[in-house]
Amino acid sequence: MAVNIDTHAFSVAPMMEMTDRFCRVFHRCMSAKALLYSEMVTCNAILHGDRDYLLGFDSIESPVVLQLGGSDPADLAACARIGQQYGYAEINLNVGCPSDRVQSGRFGACLMAEPELVASCVSAMKEAVDIPVTVKCRIGIDRNDAYEPFAEFISTVQRGGCELFIVHARKAWLDGLSPKENRDIPPLKYDFVQRIKQENPDLAFVLNGGLQTHQQARTLKHECPLPLDGVMIGRQAYKNPWLLSEVDELYYGDKPTSITRFDIIERYIPHIEKEIAAGTRLGRMTRHILGLFQGQPGGRIWRRYLSENAWRPGAGAEVVKEALRRVDAASRRPAA
Ligand SMILES: Cc1cc2nc3c(=O)[nH]c(=O)nc-3n(C[C@H](O)[C@H](O)[C@H](O)COP(=O)(O)O)c2cc1C
Repeated sequence: MAVNIDTHAFSVAPMMEMTDRFCRVFHRCMSAKALLYSEMVTCNAILHGDRDYLLGFDSIESPVVLQLGGSDPADLAACARIGQQYGYAEINLNVGCPSDRVQSGRFGACLMAEPELVASCVSAMKEAVDIPVTVKCRIGIDRNDAYEPFAEFISTVQRGGCELFIVHARKAWLDGLSPKENRDIPPLKYDFVQRIKQENPDLAFVLNGGLQTHQQARTLKHECPLPLDGVMIGRQAYKNPWLLSEVDELYYGDKPTSITRFDIIERYIPHIEKEIAAGTRLGRMTRHILGLFQGQPGGRIWRRYLSENAWRPGAGAEVVKEALRRVDAASRRPAA
């Protein structure tokens, strides 16, 4: 199926151990329209592991993209089919993760060196499902700084049927940098993504990497003659989730809302209660909401109260309500 490009106007990046289903429900309390991603799930895990645990999600999170890690076309096709059955809106192939574990499994960023294989993977997945298949990649690997290998990668993978690429606009240096360093040290080259869009007007490109504010993201999206098709923000959206409260207005043309941080927590509490009743520890949910009051009166009280109390045995939604009450009290106190 063709990608619905409009849905990609804004997305929250897939992040292992961060964008789990609890995080996505929380993000959904702030934006009805942002496209949300799963963490990367490997084919091996899906084919041999506990699928409900790995893939299950609440329909309230939709639309959610399932990101797969793998490089065997038949396995990826099987996993894409399973993802479709679970209700994911799209399947995305990870061609950007630089960890050693991923490289030894011959997938993630090292696939930037094997565009023909990536094309075969995309084509096999597209055959297997009725939902769109996309690729998230880097602008290259290792120390060759040229633009041409990136352009060659895109044109080869496009021949496999990929119509939309999410590009983390820095290289992955597979020789010696840790995954964390690989998210910060190789320089950002937004111009590579802007240029590839101008040269491939029929393909869609979503810009990712280092975006801190909506203003910066929207400027980069629109400053080239043919605008980019979307932006994806990862760490900043996680650290400062309030950013998501403006997404529907800024990227999808919705009317402005007067929603507050307090309203968002009120929306999240019923989900917390449902999960607690199902046996989930409170801390698994509250770890994602610690940044909500960042820079606000009571922000430190919020973070500290939740961190100290949410993992206590038997902790439930009342901990969150009490934290909210303390923030409210702090925000009414006159500044010293
Ligand atoms: C903790 C963490 C885990 C990540 N896990 C994934 C992942 O599973 N799949 C993926 O494609 N990228 C992953 N990334 C990379 C992000 O999706 C994104 O490309 C990168 O952080 C750059 O965007 P940002 O500067 O907006 O964070 C991860 C990043 C972080 C910080």
